[in-house]
Amino acid sequence: MSDKVVLAYSGGLDTSVAIRWLREAYNLDVIALTIDVGNERDFSAIEQKALKVGAVKALVKDAKELFVNYFVFPALQADAIYEGQYPLATALSRPLMAKLLVDAAREEAASAVAHGCTGKGNDQVRFEVSINALSPGLKIIAPAREWDMTREETINYAQRYDIPVPITASSPYSIDENLWGKSIECGVLEDPWVEPPEEVFTWTRSPDKAPDKPGYIEIGFDQGIPITIDGQELDGVSLIQRLNRLAGMHGVGRIDHLENRLVGIKSREIYEAPAAAVLLQAHQALEAMTLSKDQLRFKQKVAMEYADLIYNGLWFTSLHQDLAAYVQSTQRFVTGTVRMKLFKGNCQVVGRKSPKSLYSFGLATYDKGDQFDQSASPGFIHIWGLPVRTQAQIQGIGDLGKTEK
Ligand code: ARG
Repeated sequence: MSDKVVLAYSGGLDTSVAIRWLREAYNLDVIALTIDVGNERDFSAIEQKALKVGAVKALVKDAKELFVNYFVFPALQADAIYEGQYPLATALSRPLMAKLLVDAAREEAASAVAHGCTGKGNDQVRFEVSINALSPGLKIIAPAREWDMTREETINYAQRYDIPVPITASSPYSIDENLWGKSIECGVLEDPWVEPPEEVFTWTRSPDKAPDKPGYIEIGFDQGIPITIDGQELDGVSLIQRLNRLAGMHGVGRIDHLENRLVGIKSREIYEAPAAAVLLQAHQALEAMTLSKDQLRFKQKVAMEYADLIYNGLWFTSLHQDLAAYVQSTQRFVTGTVRMKLFKGNCQVVGRKSPKSLYSFGLATYDKGDQFDQSASPGFIHIWGLPVRTQAQIQGIGDLGKTEK
């Protein structure tokens, strides 16, 4: 009897070829594990395909809820956006997949796990650093990094062993999808000067074909977690699915990002993330109302660290645990409702309210009912400006005083 390996199986060309290749190169029995993180695929067809191309067993795991509750929502609470653009859909799914691979390897008494990543991307790092943290010493095989075949050679290999080559393999794009977003790269997108052709977008309508009337939605949050749309309570998975459709219809959530990969390469990636775009913006709007200025300033720094650690494959680390505790603490009053306007590719916050709002009408108003004591301002300015006056008097203000060359 051969040893067993659990392979993260997507049903695509590379991981299908990997099933055969792991047998040829390592003499391993392959258990294919397909993880549903909301990619809307035909999972029973994928299961059948795994068996047909030679897996000894095919497992499908619905991980949508786990993904949303333990990965997506905590990242939303943290306002994690990589380099100000990417909501981290692919990056967030990898540590979950690593966990499920390790669990399956234990249950199936497998001696190794495998994934289909190449040697140039971030995903190999995320998978392997996570697997190492969860199960030190577990053998990891990365067929697509080892086999040294071009795309064409992989297709030939598939044909030689009667492995069906999916039509998508003839598409020039590399695509990864889950509930939080779709990532698209390769083909013409590798020229950063070329506008993404309309065909790469499947979740979002082109803004010029979007409805001529704006759509309004109200999102209700409880401690930083979105729980209602227009007053209707929804579980996390359904809420995200609904927002992807709604905002996608209005052309919201297209992102063109020239990003810095962990492995040192700059790469151009297109994302579609309608729900993420709306929720991240709405969440920040509610935080603006319920957190103090100092909390907001500090949380922005944490958000950047948090996004970097997700992107860089450091989910299962103590740093993450510590930052997550901070983020959780910040969310205790982030409860309320945000009204968003969706119109031709744009998403705007147009209203917000919260039972714990720090916005005080009495302090802000210029009308009747003003409670702000304006007579206290001269004293405040006198003290606030004290170091400025002192320095200007003694040292001057240098070039800043010049108004002509
Ligand atoms: N650049 C993104 C990341 O590193 C997405 C990677 C997967 N993209 C893809 N088109 N297959 O998280």
